[in-house]
Order: sequence, then C-alpha cells, then structure tokens
Amino acid sequence: MIELGVNIDHVATLRQARRTYEPDPVIAAAMAEQGGADGITFHLREDRRHIQDRDVELLLRTVSVKTNFELACADEVVGIACRLRPTWALLVPEKREEVTTEGGLNVLADRGRVAASIAQLREAGILVSLFLDPDPAQVAAAAELGSDAVELHTGPYALARGEEQQAELERLRVAAAETTAAGMRVHAGHGLNYTNVRPVAAIPAMVELNIGHSIVSRAVFVGMREAVAEMRRILDVVAPRG
Ligand code: PXP
Repeated sequence: MIELGVNIDHVATLRQARRTYEPDPVIAAAMAEQGGADGITFHLREDRRHIQDRDVELLLRTVSVKTNFELACADEVVGIACRLRPTWALLVPEKREEVTTEGGLNVLADRGRVAASIAQLREAGILVSLFLDPDPAQVAAAAELGSDAVELHTGPYALARGEEQQAELERLRVAAAETTAAGMRVHAGHGLNYTNVRPVAAIPAMVELNIGHSIVSRAVFVGMREAVAEMRRILDVVAPRG
C-alpha cells in the first residue's frame, strides 16, 4: 500500500488571494482525512505566501493522521517545527522568486546547514525527510547525514513527455532503490496528478506520495473528500492495501 500525503497549501493560497478567513486549510485537512489521506502536508514558507503560523498551530492540534511540516533550513521555521513537533519535517530549498519549490536540496553543497537543521529536528523527536532530485550522490549524502527518508522530486518527470519521461521515471526508480538500500524510506512528490501518478506509485520501493496542487484543483469541482478518495482509489489499484 502507498501512503497518501495531501498537501493543503493551495487552499491557503486561495484564502490569501483575498487575505480573508476562507477557505480554511484546517477544514480542508479534516475533509482530506475523511477522504482517506494518510498524512497532511503543509509548507510554512519564510515569505508566508500561503500557510500562516495560525494554520500550523491549529493543524498540529487537530490533524489525527501524520503531519508533514515542509520547511527551509532556516532558524526561524526550524524553531517553530521543533516547538510544535509534527510527525515529519520535510526540508526543502526555498527561493523568494520561485512559483513553487523548483529543485531538490543540494546536500553536497549545503551540508553544514542541512546537518544543523537535521540535528535540531531530531533532537525534538521529529522524523526528517530531505527533498532531493533523483541523484545517487545526493541520496548518499542524505544517508550520511542520518535522514529518515528521502522525498524524490517528481517535477521533471511530471513535465517531461515520451521517451524523456521514461528516462525521468528510470532515474526515480534507481534513486528509490538506492534510498531503500541505504536504509531510508522513499517518498516522492511534486507535479503528480490523476493521470501521471500510476508509474511512480508502481515503483517497488515507494512508500509515500505527497500530492497537493492536483488534488486541491479537483476539490474545487468535486469537494476535498471526494478528490482525495479518487486519488486513494488509484493508489489502491496500483499498490493494494496489505
Ligand atoms: N513535495 C514538495 C517538497 C513540494 O514542495 C510540493 C509542492 O508544495 C509537493 C511535494 C506537492 O507538489 P504538488 O503541489 O505539485 O502536488
């Protein structure tokens, strides 16, 4: 069985478009749970463009499945995560100009900062996942730093077509096998939707997928509970429950 983490950031994006109180990502999380989400993911960006501090405080008090707190290796947000203690902390790179997270962390180039964040989070009893491009050198560096999981960046796979997409899928397969061999859990996410998710879910080592934009987009038309349930049904066909 593949675990489904539902990223609710873009419910907050819609709210922030009017800087008002609706739609509330905390309510979206509850409905995602009803639809079969195994976890709720949210990204407290340093620029606070969607999820706000209030959301994170309430999510940590109300979500009954796993929580996955996505954040940069920055003291302020690492401090908030350590205080609120989600199940998982997912470390990502962050640039102010980007529309969404653009690439994986460069653990090789940024080893000191990543190691310091991992140490603080683990000290607080939080499991740590690193968002990486499917690059064996990055996976090896994550293992050296003692990460509990790697979230493989599926964005390039999602954007590619034809043979190029098959090549991206192969890179994901190889990186997934290396992640498992190094003793870490394999997660994946970014750009996954109702049509491109199957081959990624079918990768044997895959444990968890984190999906946001496509589920929130579908929820606009069918509601959050049904949008999550539809994705859950696809994953259950590819990798049936144990
Ligand atoms: N994983 C990471 C690290 C992300 O930054 C995002 C986007 O917030 C996702 C997964 C989910 O991507 P999408 O919204 O394209 O499904």
